[in-house]
Amino acid sequence: MSSQLRFYKDVVTANAHGQSAKWYPPVLAGAQTLSRSLFDASVYRGCADIFGKLSPDEYADFIAGFIATGVETHGKHWRYADICTALFSLSRSLCVDSYLEIGVRRGRSMSMVAGTRPQANIVGFDLWLDNYAGLENPGPDFVRQEMERLGYKGALEFISGNSHETVPAYFGQHPEATFDLITVDGDHSPEGAMTDLLTVLPRLRIGGAIVFDDIVHPQHTYLKDVWRRSVSSKTNFSSYEFTDLGYGVAFAIRRS
Ligand SMILES: C[S@@+](CC[C@H](N)C(=O)[O-])C[C@H]1O[C@@H](n2cnc3c(N)ncnc32)[C@H](O)[C@@H]1O
Repeated sequence: MSSQLRFYKDVVTANAHGQSAKWYPPVLAGAQTLSRSLFDASVYRGCADIFGKLSPDEYADFIAGFIATGVETHGKHWRYADICTALFSLSRSLCVDSYLEIGVRRGRSMSMVAGTRPQANIVGFDLWLDNYAGLENPGPDFVRQEMERLGYKGALEFISGNSHETVPAYFGQHPEATFDLITVDGDHSPEGAMTDLLTVLPRLRIGGAIVFDDIVHPQHTYLKDVWRRSVSSKTNFSSYEFTDLGYGVAFAIRRS
């Protein structure tokens, strides 16, 4: 899977000054840089535009209303992020060509990548648990139609089943597969979330981003610790956490 990740440059070959040694890894933008665009008005507008093209959903409608009210009340000073705004911003900034998502439900988070990068290759894993968290979980055919509503034209694959089995099996069948962007938002148990994160990390491209949802969700208060132990404590990842409002979200850039 080839890709042209923005902010990934081999400084030796790109450098006109003739240096012969490669001192730093080739990543030009870490989480601090990428977090700067997270709160752009264009991110909130872009998310609202995509939400508006999807089938109505109680939770998505609430978030869209929350964002509209926040922007209206606090204007350019408003600071809010969630899985959708983070994916919109990262997908656009990094020019993502390949995306893996664990935990798809009705495609709300996936739509952020499909809507900003309509040619990207996407693979989604879900058990399609009935009545997930009191919300309907209509399955892969529905999600495919939702992506088509956005004008998405890339290769889209859904793999149904328990991610702790299906993701390792997929990697076994695709030993070379790597991704520009990965989201872990499936099994929310401490062990399950940790397992998913550790399984996908080696498949994240250098310069790519991993997103983890719900780090301050009141029903999953341990997830921030899971994130810190499995990802942000690693020296080859540069990470960012948003915990001010909502359920929180974290992302990290693989530096080497
Ligand atoms: C929070 S929802 C995903 C929401 C989606 N990322 C979004 O923001 O629109 C979690 C999803 O993970 C799925 N799930 C839970 N445990 C799973 C497991 N062990 N393997 C695969 N999927 C799982 C559920 O069926 C549900 O659809």
